[in-house]
Amino acid sequence: MSENLSPTPATAAERTSREPKFPAGPAADPAGSHHERRIRSFQPRRSRVTTGQGESLRRLWPKWGLDIDGLSRLDLGELFGDPELPVVLEIGFGMGEATAQMAAADPGTGILACDVHTPGQGNLLGLAERNGLTNVRVANGDAIILLREMLAPDSLAGLRVYFPDPWPKKRHHKRRLIQPEFLALAATRLAPGAVLHCATDWEPYAEQMLEVLSAAPDFENTQPDGGYAPRPEFRPLTRFEGQGLDKGHVVHDLMFRRRAA
Ligand SMILES: C[S@@+](CC[C@H](N)C(=O)[O-])C[C@H]1O[C@@H](n2cnc3c(N)ncnc32)[C@H](O)[C@@H]1O
Repeated sequence: MSENLSPTPATAAERTSREPKFPAGPAADPAGSHHERRIRSFQPRRSRVTTGQGESLRRLWPKWGLDIDGLSRLDLGELFGDPELPVVLEIGFGMGEATAQMAAADPGTGILACDVHTPGQGNLLGLAERNGLTNVRVANGDAIILLREMLAPDSLAGLRVYFPDPWPKKRHHKRRLIQPEFLALAATRLAPGAVLHCATDWEPYAEQMLEVLSAAPDFENTQPDGGYAPRPEFRPLTRFEGQGLDKGHVVHDLMFRRRAA
């Protein structure tokens, strides 16, 4: 009788149990927000965390990580250890390379970098440590909860949304982050005069962004001609941007200022 020596395929439960655990690290659904009936701008995905990313999460999460649990108001001065530091929020930093570059180039600004993507959180923490950056904090969870429940009115010196998921299919357009309701919420958290900076390589989304931002009563375009902004020097090439450029996509930046109340 021949013996089957090939290993039995792992069940989903076994695969999950073999994944690295971060007891003091980012929680799977910190706000328990799966109970909330709301359309999400992201797809929950279980991506593999490398050994290096896992190690960074284990060591650095307790120091620089923040679960978006929606339970308390953040004191940004306390979070960054400097009450005078202006803080910008970056939503969707992906793997965080561009975030780390911007933090290194501008140590006088704190970056609160938010994403749901665990490998990216580990990657950004590792980059921050290797580059001696003390002005980055990594927030885990849905940016909507962070804005709505945890950030005080007028507390942000800026908001960056670089290459948000384009959700190209028509039936998914409702998942796009840049919508009138999002802009109304974001405006309340930005200080008067603070800039919301978006960039995308997806032409139809760029057009939608320009339309909804131009119509948003709380924002004014920084561009006198009412159009797209030239790419500012401080924004490095991001990973998604590079992939878009490889496909021949055109990138648009949009910079809108929160109006004084
Ligand atoms: C297409 S990627 C772009 C990543 C990076 N900015 C870049 O350009 O390489 C969009 C990222 O936004 C994150 N994201 C989408 N909606 C989010 C939300 N509501 N809160 C936090 N992160 C979100 C996704 O997890 C994803 O990592």
